[in-house]
Parts: sequence; structure tokens; C-alpha cells
Amino acid sequence: MMSITKVGFVLMTLLATVQCQDGAPAPNAAAPAGAPAPDNAAAPAPPAPDMAGMFAAAYNQDIIINSDLFSDKPEILSGGLGFTNIIGVSNNTDEAVVRAANGTWRANVTCSSGAPPPGRVLTSATPTTMYTTGYNCTADNYDGLPVCFSWPVLPSSISNTSFLITLSDGSTVVPPCIGMSPNFEFNERQCVVLFAKFGNRIPSTEPGSLFVSRVEVVQGASLKLVGKSGPVSAAGLSFDNPTGKSPYDDNNGPVIMVAKLSKLNDVGEGISQPPIAPQTAFPNSGIALYGAYDGSLGPDGDRYRLRLFYSGGMTPDGVMAFQPTKFATHFYLMATDADGQEVRINATGVEYDLGQQLGSIQVLGMADTGVGQDSYDECYQEDYDNYLDVILDASSPEAAASLTTLMAFQTDEGYSPLYNPGGPGNDPTPGVRYSSPSPPQSVNITLALDDPMVVTYCNLNGTLITDPEACAAAVAPAPTPAPAPAPAA
Ligand SMILES: *[C@@H]1O[C@H](CO)[C@@H](O)[C@H](O)[C@H]1NC(C)=O
Ligand SMILES: *[C@@H]1O[C@H](CO)[C@@H](O)[C@H](O)[C@H]1NC(C)=O
Ligand SMILES: *[C@@H]1O[C@H](CO)[C@@H](O)[C@H](O)[C@H]1NC(C)=O
Ligand SMILES: *[C@@H]1O[C@H](CO)[C@@H](O)[C@H](O)[C@H]1NC(C)=O
Ligand SMILES: *[C@@H]1O[C@H](CO)[C@@H](O)[C@H](O)[C@H]1NC(C)=O
Ligand SMILES: *[C@@H]1O[C@H](CO)[C@@H](O)[C@H](O)[C@H]1NC(C)=O
Ligand SMILES: *[C@@H]1O[C@H](CO)[C@@H](O)[C@H](O)[C@H]1NC(C)=O
Ligand SMILES: *[C@@H]1O[C@H](CO)[C@@H](O)[C@H](O)[C@H]1NC(C)=O
Repeated sequence: MMSITKVGFVLMTLLATVQCQDGAPAPNAAAPAGAPAPDNAAAPAPPAPDMAGMFAAAYNQDIIINSDLFSDKPEILSGGLGFTNIIGVSNNTDEAVVRAANGTWRANVTCSSGAPPPGRVLTSATPTTMYTTGYNCTADNYDGLPVCFSWPVLPSSISNTSFLITLSDGSTVVPPCIGMSPNFEFNERQCVVLFAKFGNRIPSTEPGSLFVSRVEVVQGASLKLVGKSGPVSAAGLSFDNPTGKSPYDDNNGPVIMVAKLSKLNDVGEGISQPPIAPQTAFPNSGIALYGAYDGSLGPDGDRYRLRLFYSGGMTPDGVMAFQPTKFATHFYLMATDADGQEVRINATGVEYDLGQQLGSIQVLGMADTGVGQDSYDECYQEDYDNYLDVILDASSPEAAASLTTLMAFQTDEGYSPLYNPGGPGNDPTPGVRYSSPSPPQSVNITLALDDPMVVTYCNLNGTLITDPEACAAAVAPAPTPAPAPAPAA
């Protein structure tokens, strides 16, 4: 069996080969949530099976570090059709080809760097071959279906025979494409993404509508989830479409399942060194973007991460990246102050007073996006996955614990929704229907302040490691990059 470091090195070499051959950047590792995303490597030749197998094996190594347990039992928290038709178009660097497949294409994008816009900032459509993102299959105008569990998936247990998908007309599908991307950071891994034909864009109120009704992990499936006592079988878990509607119905876009608050800790952020894929969007942890707590709210203060875990990629229009400075465009938080009054936390860089016994809270911005920069433009790229973090300081654990509710996408109050990769972009083709925006939501905040409710499970070459620092050191021996300066608020 090849060591992890060696697998990484061989894949780096393969990626470099792909880049040279095509004269275009290799596909990003980071696929849109629900979808691999790559800059098209100009329709790469189908890989030798062993190459696809090596990439799949590299993505699916059993390395789970400080990954969240989002509930106290193994369950499916979301699973349904996200969007249709744009996974596997014949040439995703050609606007006409992408639009003919009913994908969108962003208009008038210029990069402040002066460089040509990377393909991923123009469209979410992908090439047919996605082996560099760990999908061992050929996609043909497929649809995207992310399945998110409460506990991390044991990556080596993923197989293309674990899932059975039931459509709204009663027919069933065994999807040929399954992978961890883009949810592959070592402290993520709760979602897998399935690609196949699952439906169409006709809303459920109209005849001929086809979408996903039920997702199940079949009896006897190899798929496992990892809890505090180790791997458990996922066989038999199922999830029924909670709205009974299509993602092409009004306001039936992606939803946030959990908003979980814990102390900021970036052990387990990112992927292995050397990387198995380009690092466009990394490092993107709260510490990478904002640094560690600097004492500004006093000696009992600390920096916290409110992790938002959602059912399908969330970007402003389905294509353009979510920028770290956009907290107040989409979200606000509610807290209960020392007098029992509700406090609305709706701006970054503002210290909100909660009364003397509690102290104060200040939101710094968002993380688990892409890398920290001084400013952001439409050429910014992120990891397009199923997680966003609100990074905040609290003057005491009690102040942190006063947070009660995440208010998201309150369009009535002027806030903006977010879209999965099937969204309209800024220049939708007239007459074509795109996937719908996220509905307004109020999400109770789950406090994980004393016990962060995470799990570490690393099977390195047959040796089991459950200490997060020890596993992180084994898989990422290179020193972590110096934290970027905090972006101007
Ligand atoms: C894996 O095992 C091989 C052979 O026992 C050894 O040479 C290699 O260093 C090990 N790799 C890791 C990451 O433990
Ligand atoms: C990838 O798919 C090919 C063709 O279906 C198959 O021959 C190969 O064994 C697969 N590799 C892995 C690792 O699943
Ligand atoms: C894909 O489209 C681009 C843009 O039109 C073009 O330059 C490229 O040659 C096409 N690739 C293939 C393989 O046809
Ligand atoms: C694109 O959408 C239009 C309008 O709904 C539809 O007529 C056409 O068949 C769709 N094309 C594809 C390739 O799905
Ligand atoms: C699953 O993958 C295997 C190769 O690993 C392949 O032979 C088989 O056709 C795939 N099954 C489906 C349903 O795509
Ligand atoms: C924040 O909420 C307060 C009310 O609590 C309101 O007066 C203020 O305009 C809001 N600010 C923003 C930026 O929405
Ligand atoms: C792109 O720029 C052209 C020319 O200025 C303008 O007509 C068009 O409306 C712009 N499109 C978008 C989506 O901004
Ligand atoms: C959210 O919290 C409120 C107040 O504690 C409670 O009444 C409500 O049932 C909670 N909602 C959910 C979905 O847990």
C-alpha cells in the first residue's frame, strides 16, 4: 500500500502533467457544492482507469480530523435534487456550449489583477471527466444531488452501489457518480455528492415535473459514518423530501440545517501536504483569515466559529464566489442580553454590548470561503462547499452562549438569498429556468462550547490515530502558512 505522502506526490505530478498537456489550469479540487467545478481542462482525455482510481483513492483516504458531529445520532440531514443538466457538458469553457445545456455564464467579469477570469468564476458547468476531483465516472449532462449526514462519512466506505434514489414519478436511480468533493477538508466530510439524471426544471405545480422524493442508503451498503466510538453502518438510513417540491419551485433553494457555535480551532482545516489538488481556495480557516483572538474583548474573551452547514452550495448567484466580507448582506444574529432583551447583531466590526454580567460580541466576518485578501472582486474563488463560518469574538463564554438564533436570507428586511450551482448568474439566458434562491430562515444556534462535539479518526496506513494534532502532523508535515493579515473591515 502506498503511503499518504507518496500518493500526494504522485498525484501532484499527474496534475502537473494535465496542466501542461492542456495549456489550461487543471480542474480545481474545489467543486461547487454539489458539484465539481473545475476550470475545464479543455475536455481532458479520459483517464487511464488506474489514474482515476488513484485520485479516488487519494480523496477517499480515511482522514477525519476534528470533524463535527451535527447531531447526537447518525442520520441524513439533507438529500435532494439540487440542480440539473450542467455536470458534464462537452466543453465548459465555451459559452455557447454551456448556454445550450442551460447552464449560465457570467457577463462582464474583469479581474483587478488584469488576468483573464478563471473558468470557475464564469460558470458552474463542469467537464464530463472529473477524475481530478475524485469522481471515477463520466458525466453526461448530469444533475447534482448532495447528501449530507449528521456525522462524517468514512471516505473509504464510499461506493457507487450504496444509494438508491426515488424520483417523484416512483422510478429509481442508482447514481454512477459519487464522491467527497467539494466537502473534502479533513474537518468536513459529512456530505457526499451524487451525479446522475434525477429530474427536470419543471416546477412541481406544472405537469411533467420530475425531482427527487427520497434518498436511501440501501440495506447491506458498505457506507459508514464515524461517531465518537468509531465507524457505524449507514445502511438503512433514508431521507424524504421535506417540502415535496422541486428545487425549481419558487424559494425552494438550499437550506441551512445546523448553525453550530464552538471555539475556533483550525486543526483539521484544509487537505494533505503535498496537496492532491490545486489550492486555489486554501487556506480559508477563521485563523487563516482573521488570526487568533487578539485580546481586544478582554482577558476572558475568545474567538469563536459559528459553522453553517447547508444542503447545497450557497453563492450569491450560483456562480460568483461568496466573499468573506458579506456577512451583513445575508445574515444577522440574535442574542439575549443580561436583561433578557433581544440584541440584533447585524454588522461586522461593531462591538455589541450585552450588559455587564455578559460582556460583548463582535463579528469579524465569514470564513471557509477562499483565501483572505485586502479586497475582493468577481474573480475571487472559494471552495464552493456545504459550509460557511461566521467568525466572531465574545468577551466571555457566557457572552458567546447568549447567541440564540441565526437569521438568514430575510428578504423582507432587505437581506439577500443564496443559490446552489444551478443559480442564474448575472446574465441568465431568457426563457431558461434556473434553480431557486434559498428561502428565508431562522435557525436555532447549537452551542458546543464546553464539548466541541467533533471526532477524529485517521487510518494512516493501517495505524489508527484519534488524536487530532497527531493526525494533522502526520498528514500535513509542512509548516502551515503564516496567517494573512485581517482584511480591513
Ligand atoms: C506506510 O507503510 C509503509 C510500509 O510499511 C511505510 O514505508 C510508510 O512510511 C508508511 N507511511 C505512513 C504515512 O505511515
Ligand atoms: C474506476 O472506474 C473504472 C471504470 O468503471 C473501473 O474499472 C475502476 O476499477 C474504477 N476505480 C475505482 C478506484 O473505483
Ligand atoms: C472549448 O471551447 C473553447 C472556447 O470556445 C475553445 O477555445 C476550445 O478549443 C474548445 N475545446 C475543445 C476541446 O473543443
Ligand atoms: C433549456 O430550457 C429550455 C426552456 O425551458 C428548454 O426548452 C430546453 O429543452 C432546455 N434545453 C436543455 C438542453 O435542457
Ligand atoms: C460502479 O463502479 C464500478 C467500477 O468501480 C463500475 O464497474 C460499475 O459500472 C459502477 N456502477 C454504476 C451503477 O455506475
Ligand atoms: C441593525 O439593526 C438595528 C436595529 O436593531 C437597525 O437600527 C440598523 O439599521 C440595522 N443595521 C443594519 C446595517 O442593518
Ligand atoms: C455587460 O456589459 C454590456 C456593455 O456595457 C451591457 O450592455 C450589459 O448589460 C452588461 N451585462 C451585465 C449582465 O452586466
Ligand atoms: C428553537 O428555539 C425555540 C426557543 O428555544 C424553540 O421554541 C423552538 O422549538 C426551537 N426550534 C427548533 C427547530 O428546534
